[in-house]
Amino acid sequence: MTSSHSTVRVDLGDRSYDVLVGHGVANEIATQIPDNVRRIAVVTQPGVPIRLALPVEHKIFEIGNGESNKSITTVEKLCSGFADMGLTRNDLVIGVGGGMVTDVAGFAAAVFHRGVRVMHVATTLLAMVDAAIGGKTGVNLSAGKNLVGAFWQPSAVFCEMDALSTLPPEQMRGGLGELAKYHFISGDDFLSMDMQQRIARAVRIKADIVAADERESGQRALLNYGHTLGHAVEIATNFKVQHGEAVAIGLVYAAHLAEVMGRISDDRVKEHYAVVGSEYGLSTALPKGCTPDVLLPLIANDKKALDGLTFVLDSLRGLEVVPGVSEQNVREALAAMEVR
Ligand code: GLY
Repeated sequence: MTSSHSTVRVDLGDRSYDVLVGHGVANEIATQIPDNVRRIAVVTQPGVPIRLALPVEHKIFEIGNGESNKSITTVEKLCSGFADMGLTRNDLVIGVGGGMVTDVAGFAAAVFHRGVRVMHVATTLLAMVDAAIGGKTGVNLSAGKNLVGAFWQPSAVFCEMDALSTLPPEQMRGGLGELAKYHFISGDDFLSMDMQQRIARAVRIKADIVAADERESGQRALLNYGHTLGHAVEIATNFKVQHGEAVAIGLVYAAHLAEVMGRISDDRVKEHYAVVGSEYGLSTALPKGCTPDVLLPLIANDKKALDGLTFVLDSLRGLEVVPGVSEQNVREALAAMEVR
C-alpha cells in the first residue's frame, strides 16, 4: 500500500465514491471489493501494463485498440462473456486502461443485468483527469462518437501513476491537453504542484462539478473548455491530431476569442500560451488545412451547441457557456492564431 496517495471523494449521496491517486494505488483494489462479490470481469486492452491481484474468481476480457472497437458490437461481446462466466448483479466489472476502456467497460456494466457495479483503474493521464471520473460511459455509432451511452458512476477509481512511465508520448500529450484546461477552470496555482498533486486537484475540480451537475444541465459543460474548436480540429485533421492535443489548441483559441469579445485581457491570453505551450510543450497553432472555411461548419455542428455558435469562454467572473457567438468574432479569433 502506498502511504503517499491522495484520496478525492466524489459526493453523490448513496452513490458517492473515492478516487485514489498515486503510485501503486491499483494494489489497493482488493481491499475495496464488497464482500458479496463472487466474480469479477476485468475489461482491459492489449499492452495495458497493470495486472491486478484479485481475491475472487475473475476473467480477463481484452477489447481491441482503436475507435472502431468502441462499438455496440464490443459491448455485446463483453456482455455475452459476462453471461458465460455467470456474472450476477451482485458482482463487479473492473475497467483497467485508458478512456476507451473505462467508457466501454462502464457502459457494459451499466447495461448488463440493467446495472452491475464497476470500478476503474485509470492507466492514462487522460482517463485519470477526465474519462474515468464522473460516470459518463458510451460507445460510437457510424453517425458520431459517444452517441450511445449512459451515466453510470463507478464505485471506486484508482489513478495508477506507475502506468504513466510506460505511456507513449502522444498519449501523454493528450492527457496534458486535458490537464491544461483545469488551470483555467479554477484559480488554483497548478504550476506550483507536482504531477500527483495536479492530477488529484483536477479530479477534485471535476468531482465538485459532477456532484453539483451530474447530468450536465449546467456547469458540467465548463469541463468542455477548449473542446468546441478542439473537436473541429480533430475532425478536420481526420483524427491525426488526437483529442487532448486538439483540446490544447482549442484552449488557446478560446482565449483569443474571449479577448476578441472583450471578456479577458491580453495577459490572460498569454497565460494560456504559457500553460499549453511552455509548461506542457503542446502545440498552440492551428494545423495546416484548418482554415476558417473548414472549421466553421464543424464548429456550427458541435453536438453541444445550444444556440448558434457556442463556446465555453473565460471572463473576469471565470468560465461561462456563451451561446450565439458571431461568425465575425469566430473568424477574427481564428486569424489571431498561428498556422503550422
Ligand atoms: N468529459 C467531460 C465530462 O465528463 O463531463
